[in-house]
Amino acid sequence: MKRTMIVAGVLVLGAGAVMAQQEIAVQQDNLMKSIAKNQYGVLQKMSKGDIPFDKKAVDQAIAAIEADVAKIAKTFEINPKQDVVNATYGSSPKVWQNKADFDAKIPPVQKAITDVKGKITDVAGLKAAYTTINDRCNDCHETYRVKLK
Ligand code: HEC
Repeated sequence: MKRTMIVAGVLVLGAGAVMAQQEIAVQQDNLMKSIAKNQYGVLQKMSKGDIPFDKKAVDQAIAAIEADVAKIAKTFEINPKQDVVNATYGSSPKVWQNKADFDAKIPPVQKAITDVKGKITDVAGLKAAYTTINDRCNDCHETYRVKLK
């Protein structure tokens, strides 16, 4: 009887650890999705003319991206050792093998943002800013993001 209880306890603990890890992976993914909502959903769409230029919306999107990017280092502190269920992208194990280098990809994104913040007044300026920021996102993605499907 005692033995059964111990086994059951270990099973519950095991399931808890798996859930916590999935939770961490989801948090990491949600942070990237939140960044993407502004970068692609607002800045890219507006720079292509899919939605009308709106300086206030640009400034808000840039501020939101800036706030999210500041959370990357901490949000990716722990290796969840699993991908989000059914996700298109996942993290390479290299993130946690070279965490200092991963973190070093963040300040260039922040610099690209501060360089343009509050200064975008037309679509041409937005296009240039969008591309500069996006190139810095991809500098991290090319090493640390993997396509799962
Ligand atoms: C320091 C590294 C790093 C930087 C900088 C970074 N990302 Fe990511 N990004 C990742 C990693 C790792 C993943 C894969 C894990 C995940 O999806 O959570 C990812 C995933 C993504 C995804 C896929 C999400 C999904 O699963 O659908 C998008 C979209 C994305 N990033 C957008 C951006 C944008 C836009 C920027 C720049 C403003 C950016 N990222 C900056 C590391 C980074």
